[in-house]
Amino acid sequence: MFKSIPLAAALAGAILAAPVAPALAQSGEVNIYSYREPGLIQPLLDRFSAETGIKANVLFAGNGLLERVAAEGELSPADVVLTVDVGNLVGAKDQGLTQPITTPALERVPAEFRDADGAWVALSLRARVFYVSKDRVDATALTYEDIAKPEWKGRICTRAGDHVYNIGLIASRIALWGLDKTREWLTAVRDNLAYPPGGGDREGVKNILAGTCDLSITNTYYMGAMLNNEAEPEQKEWANSARIIYPTTADGDGTQVNAAGAFIAKHAPNPENANKLIEFLLSDEAQQIYADTNYEYPAVPSVAPAELTLSWGKLVPSRVTLTEIAQYRDEAAALVDELKFNEGPQH
Ligand SMILES: [Fe+2]
Repeated sequence: MFKSIPLAAALAGAILAAPVAPALAQSGEVNIYSYREPGLIQPLLDRFSAETGIKANVLFAGNGLLERVAAEGELSPADVVLTVDVGNLVGAKDQGLTQPITTPALERVPAEFRDADGAWVALSLRARVFYVSKDRVDATALTYEDIAKPEWKGRICTRAGDHVYNIGLIASRIALWGLDKTREWLTAVRDNLAYPPGGGDREGVKNILAGTCDLSITNTYYMGAMLNNEAEPEQKEWANSARIIYPTTADGDGTQVNAAGAFIAKHAPNPENANKLIEFLLSDEAQQIYADTNYEYPAVPSVAPAELTLSWGKLVPSRVTLTEIAQYRDEAAALVDELKFNEGPQH
């Protein structure tokens, strides 16, 4: 219906199509709004269509899809929204954009990785970890507390503090440590930065190769994405300059995990097909394809991560749940502002 159509044109199309949206309920289609890249999603959707006969129409956009679903209201053609970060998933629920997922396949995902009311479900998990220089860092294990120590002064890099990935990390620290300890920690981490935070998750690793920093806070799957980036082979060198350490806390809590996931839109014209799509995405087959394509961790525990993913070490997830991370996001954002984290080191 709107595959490959530019956003503005698709929006116009959606508005025109809206009055007849109920007719789509019988049409054997499912409409997907996806923040996830076509390369990750399209092979899965092709498989879904081949197996079910349901046509999957997909609109890809890097941002603005939640706002769009909200603006379209009852007339939205969106059935399923695929997005990254628990903040977006919980935000969708809080804005009343979701309806309960009813497929029993939901229970394939452990309770800590889905909404208690079925408003959203994780489809894959990612950990926010430390990439350290193979040449300049000897440590084989590090705690979150370690990177606040003076020995890391001028050696840490990461993207902006208010990016959802770092908000998730900081929110998880607040859930675990409380606001005061997290403030102290984040202040010290800020002052250990090599430069004002910025760029993407890969840039930090690029800067490890360049010698600008020794430790980058970056999500796990970028290692796989960089190692397999045939279009930009220099990314392989960035990746090869670093190894991954899964941080823990001094008292033994594990590594912060976030999710990419899905929800069914409140006004989905094809809710049955939406549930069928979620069921498919939670099947062993789809979970394996997803894990092998994007180097994230499957949300269904019986499915193994890609061998490359397993080669980076063992992920022991933090006890902080996705819902808790979402709860502390506002406090995390306020702390980033208060500490002027994005301005970089101040002492
Ligand atoms: Fe990412």
